[in-house]
Amino acid sequence: MKEYYLVDKNANADLITNLENTKEVNKIIVFIAQQLNLDNEKQQEIINTQCIAERIELIIQFIKDEIEIVKAESKIRNIVRDQIEKRQKDIYLNEQLQAIHKELGTDKTNSEFEKIEKKLNQIKMPKETKDSMYEYLSKLQMMNPISAEATVLLNYLHVICSLPWNKNKKIKINLERTEKILEESHFGLDKIKERILEYLAVQKHTNNKLAGPIICLIGPPGVGKTSLGKSIADSMDREFISIPLGGVSDEAEIRGHRRTYIGAMPGRIIQKLSKLKYNNPVVVLDEIDKISSDFRGDPSSALLQVLDPEQNKKFLDNYLDVDYDLSQVMFICTANTLNMSTPLIDRMEIIRLSSYTQEEKFEIAKKHLITKNMESHNLTKKEIKISDGAIKNLIKHYTQEAGVRNLEREIAKLCRKATKKIINIEEHNKNNKLNKEEFKTIEITDKNLEEFLGVKKFLNEEASKKNEIGLATGLAWTEER
Ligand SMILES: Nc1ncnc2c1ncn2[C@@H]1O[C@H](COP(=O)(O)OP(=O)(O)O)[C@@H](O)[C@H]1O
Ligand SMILES: [Mg+2]
Repeated sequence: MKEYYLVDKNANADLITNLENTKEVNKIIVFIAQQLNLDNEKQQEIINTQCIAERIELIIQFIKDEIEIVKAESKIRNIVRDQIEKRQKDIYLNEQLQAIHKELGTDKTNSEFEKIEKKLNQIKMPKETKDSMYEYLSKLQMMNPISAEATVLLNYLHVICSLPWNKNKKIKINLERTEKILEESHFGLDKIKERILEYLAVQKHTNNKLAGPIICLIGPPGVGKTSLGKSIADSMDREFISIPLGGVSDEAEIRGHRRTYIGAMPGRIIQKLSKLKYNNPVVVLDEIDKISSDFRGDPSSALLQVLDPEQNKKFLDNYLDVDYDLSQVMFICTANTLNMSTPLIDRMEIIRLSSYTQEEKFEIAKKHLITKNMESHNLTKKEIKISDGAIKNLIKHYTQEAGVRNLEREIAKLCRKATKKIINIEEHNKNNKLNKEEFKTIEITDKNLEEFLGVKKFLNEEASKKNEIGLATGLAWTEER
């Protein structure tokens, strides 16, 4: 019983003296039975045992049993207590961490997780992809939010959530409207406009089922390749992005870096797409002939996967690490020359844009560039007037190019100079309290063009003044092959 009192902390150990003072065996046994809290069955067993020696043996056995039970119980209790203590410690530490975050101003993490989860719930993406994203999210929730790993994972989930996975913009194809928009934005270029209308007609007739070939616009600088891409997007009521590829020599620019790299980012295509709402924009891959390849891989081979309608359903960006469907995107490429790899050329339908003649430039300037620049400079027809002679002079003597980019720049210069004049007059009138009506339209003509733009930059050459037999009037070199 001394041993029993040692292990059972609940028993009253003082009672051991009672036991020591008792001399009668039966009384001792009854006392012990009470102390051990024996159940009725066991008590009956004791009573049933007639022989005193056997009775003592039995009660000793019961004491031993009870000691084992008490020992086992206390062991279990210890384990449970340890666990509870650990949990309480965790809760306590977490509370502390939250307090620290609050103090540092980094306590947005929890609401951020909720936001990500909400977004994930809404996104329509393939089920396996979604499942793995939920897994990443729960992993992230267990990480220390200020660790580098957590930051990487958080950024990753942000990129995933911002991509327009299956959100398709409903497009109503209306050829008449498209034609009108293209006509309004660009003069001439009939071949390419016609091709766009054909493309749309096929799309409409096949319910967008047929993945059309990728169009590649080839032509000298400034003939409207990039801006035409934007107009095509507008005319089809699609979102528009342009991805400049000039100087890209790293495959990772197209395909992204693995997430394990420090500062890893998705490729340019995924980066730009993540800023959009819908997955069916028009994407202009600009200056596709200017990509080069070096030791960091070959970006043009990565582009092959992007441009191949069979493969781009499962475009794999290294950063995303899950397939992304690019098949709804309408790709348009632009290039100055055909100087690119044969497999790439093979994937595309080449449409050539030639340089503009002086007459075409005149029309473009009159119908588009002047109005555009007057609008952007907030000039009205009352304030500025550019005569036809001035435009022709401008084209002939201030620009010498295939496209109209310099022409546009010179027109912008005219608008700038005119605006300055107008402001000068306004201020002068105000200071001298003169009537507003004194203001006259600023007229730019053949005669006064030099006042605005300075001396002529290009003069007609001797040879083109008078035709002579056997005299070459010019020598041209182009990049085309
Ligand atoms: N046919 C055209 N009609 C109207 N504007 C044009 C035309 N061609 C070019 N432009 C204008 O010329 C500028 C340069 O065009 P851009 O598309 O940048 O040329 P590219 O990409 O071929 O080098 C743009 O402002 C565009 O609006
Ligand atoms: Mg361009």
